[in-house]
Amino acid sequence: MNIIFCEDYEEMSRKAAAIIASKIILKPDSVIGFATGATPIGLYKELIKRYEKGEISFADMRTFNLDEYLGEIKDLETSFYNFMQNNLFLHIDVKPENTDIPDGSAADIQAECERYTEALDLIPEGLDFQILGIGANGHIGFNEPDDYFPLDTHIVELTEETIEGQKPFFDDYNKIPKRAVTMGIRAIMNAKQLLLIASGDGKSKILEKALFGPVTPNIPASILQIHRCLTVVADRAALSQIIEKHPDAIL
Ligand code: F6R
Repeated sequence: MNIIFCEDYEEMSRKAAAIIASKIILKPDSVIGFATGATPIGLYKELIKRYEKGEISFADMRTFNLDEYLGEIKDLETSFYNFMQNNLFLHIDVKPENTDIPDGSAADIQAECERYTEALDLIPEGLDFQILGIGANGHIGFNEPDDYFPLDTHIVELTEETIEGQKPFFDDYNKIPKRAVTMGIRAIMNAKQLLLIASGDGKSKILEKALFGPVTPNIPASILQIHRCLTVVADRAALSQIIEKHPDAIL
């Protein structure tokens, strides 16, 4: 595991974008798993800048996404589908047919989970890169704390803490979906490289627990400790507990 220190959110976004951009340059037909939420917005802005400067192209890439709310999400401005369109896809040359996000509005949601799992299984040797954020309770994707690690794409009841965490994106608390569909732990752990990004004080305790505590499904992100190639890019605030307890672990 490499932990890369950044002074602030801007530096985290730039360094994370540099890592993803190098991958795209080296392997233009990369398959990359994207995340939504507040943390990757700056990273996506940086990728757009690099695309506009002609440094990278997404034309040969394929993309997957970690998760989506369940329900009439296409009408929901705050759906993860719309998040990806607005924050990245509409600004770059990725081909829409090469992007895949679980369809939370599918009539047969179980069949949709199976379709997504199969689509992920068809990628030879797994995703080239999976970008991850971390929830305040240690969730990755929407794999919430549980007694076991859910392996494949599945429906999840969001915890109260996670629902709270979605507040910044909704004008009305009651409109926050309470269920979601998420990629399971197997596809995440099968990715050749993982990039975990974290910013802000609110992430410092859980980041330390996840990366240095016991590996347990009660903190889903703790499984990342045993991934073959995990890079953590985080800012000073998010790293504060690690700086205090494991200063030698930081690059
Ligand atoms: C989003 C996702 C979530 C978020 C996590 C952190 O696709 O899978 O695991 O990465 O909830 O969210 P932010 O970045 O908003 O703190």
